[in-house]
Amino acid sequence: MEKNIAVIWGDCSSPEIVKQTLRVLDKVAEKYGHTFHYTAAAMGGEAIDKYGDPLPQHELDKCLAADSVLLGAVGGPKWEGLPGEQRPEKGLLRLRAGMGLYANNRPAKIWPQLAPASPLKPEIVAQGIDFIIVRELIGGVYFGQHQTHTLENGEKQAVDTMPYAEHEIERIGRIGFETARKRRKKLCCVDKANVLDTSRLWRIVMHRLQAEYSDVEYSEMFVDNCAMQIVKNPAQFDVIVTENMFGDILSDEASMITGSIGMIPSSSLGDGTRGLYEPIHGSAPDIAGKDIVNPTACILSAAMMLRYSFGMAEEADAIENAVSRVLDKGLRTADNMSDGCTCLGCTAMGDAILAEL
Ligand code: IPM
Ligand code: MN
Repeated sequence: MEKNIAVIWGDCSSPEIVKQTLRVLDKVAEKYGHTFHYTAAAMGGEAIDKYGDPLPQHELDKCLAADSVLLGAVGGPKWEGLPGEQRPEKGLLRLRAGMGLYANNRPAKIWPQLAPASPLKPEIVAQGIDFIIVRELIGGVYFGQHQTHTLENGEKQAVDTMPYAEHEIERIGRIGFETARKRRKKLCCVDKANVLDTSRLWRIVMHRLQAEYSDVEYSEMFVDNCAMQIVKNPAQFDVIVTENMFGDILSDEASMITGSIGMIPSSSLGDGTRGLYEPIHGSAPDIAGKDIVNPTACILSAAMMLRYSFGMAEEADAIENAVSRVLDKGLRTADNMSDGCTCLGCTAMGDAILAEL
C-alpha cells in the first residue's frame, strides 16, 4: 500500500522521538512492501517561530490532505509567555478541531516487564491494569468561551465556559460503547453529575445509548472518586468514557501507574479513517538535545496509525512485539529504569526496536 503521512516534528525533545519513529516506519514499509510518503507540517512552537501562528491554514491543509498525521509533542518554555491564542498548545487544539477528531483513545495497559516500575503496590499491579480512556477531544471547557474582564471593584475576573451539546455527547458515547463491545464489555462514564449540568446532560444521553448496547455493562462514577479508584483498584476498569478535561487529567494519572508516561501512545479519530497519532506525554524540554528521551510512545503511536487508519494489523503487531522483546531483554530508557536493567538513550532504543523488527 501507498500512504501519505503528515509529520509534525514538534518542539524540544520531540524531533528526537519522531526521528526514531520514522526509522521504524521505514523498516515496516521495507519488510511488508509498503511506501510511506512523509510531508512535514509545522505546528506549535516551530510554526510560531516560522509563521507567527501556531497552526497556519496552509499547515492544517497539509494534514487534511494526508492519510494520517504523526505528531511528537509541542510546547516549551520559549513560548510560555505568549497570550493564549498564540501558544503552541492552541495549535494542537486547532488541529484536533480542524480535523474533526472528537474521539481520543488513550490505553492504560501495563507491560508485564514494567510491573516493577509501577508506583503501585505489587499486589495491586498483579490484579492487572488494562483499560482505555475514551476522551472527548473537541468540546467542553477547552473549546468554550475564555475571557478575562475587570469587575466594578477593579479586580480581574476570568471565565471559561464548558459547553456540551447532545450530539457531541452521543457520538463519543457511542465510541465508548463500541470500544467496550470489542473488549471486556464494561463501560464507565466518568463525570461530576453531582455538580455540573454538562455531566447531567451526559448521563441523559448515555442512558439513551445504553438501551442500544444492552450487552455492555454500564456504570457511572464521579471523577474525584475515579481518580482514587485508578490507584486503589485499577483492575475494575475496562473502558472509561469522559469529557475533555477530565480525560486529560485521568489519562496522565493512568499512564503513571503503568510504569511510565513515556510508553503510552494515543489515537484521535473522527468520522473517517484519517487520524492523528501522538504520544500522550509532552515535549520534555528539560531533557531536549540529550538523546535520552524515550521514543517508545511515539513508535507505538505509529503502530496505532497502521492498525486503526491503514488497516495494517500485522504490521502494527510486529512493532508492538518488537517493543515487547526489547523489554524482555531488560532494555529501558531513563524514565522507566528498574534494578538490573540496562539504560539506553533515545537513538539506542530506536536501534534496539529496529533490531527486533
Ligand atoms: C494532552 C496535552 C494537551 C491537552 C495540551 C498540550 C493542550 O496535555 O494531549 O493531553 O491538554 O489536551
Ligand atoms: Mn494532557
